[in-house]
Amino acid sequence: MHIHRLERIWLSFGIVMLVVFLGVIGTAAISEGIVPPSNIQTINPATVAQTAPFDNPGLRKIGDNAYEAYILARYPVFIPHEIRVPAGAKVTFFVTSPDVVHGFFVTNSDVNMMVVPGWVSSATHVFRRPGQYLLLCNEYCGREHHFMYGTIEVH
Ligand code: CUA
Repeated sequence: MHIHRLERIWLSFGIVMLVVFLGVIGTAAISEGIVPPSNIQTINPATVAQTAPFDNPGLRKIGDNAYEAYILARYPVFIPHEIRVPAGAKVTFFVTSPDVVHGFFVTNSDVNMMVVPGWVSSATHVFRRPGQYLLLCNEYCGREHHFMYGTIEVH
């Protein structure tokens, strides 16, 4: 097959640039220790179910209308599936996965995290308005990905 000389030059240029860009990203990620955003600490994904506080996932009251929610994103469910808090509650989510990469997105909020096995992701939100907030997995995680959801009931 004949490839025109100019076309060959452009193809080579494209491949070289691809290698350079991936190299720059890879080098920066390794040298700067870049990890997915909102991931705060490491955890062994194989022993998540035996590691506190994820051995007992759920909501903990830590202050005046302030809560910590420990949630396990385990294909294809969130454990616990439902959380109930009063209006105005400040909730800090800690989420981890024992299996594959999941998403953690709370509708009508600024909580949108990637949940990576081996890491604990965290985000905080104040639920001012009463109502039902959907909690969705927005990273494709398998055949039943679209069943992976939960609810946050603000009363
Ligand atoms: Cu979990 Cu998609």
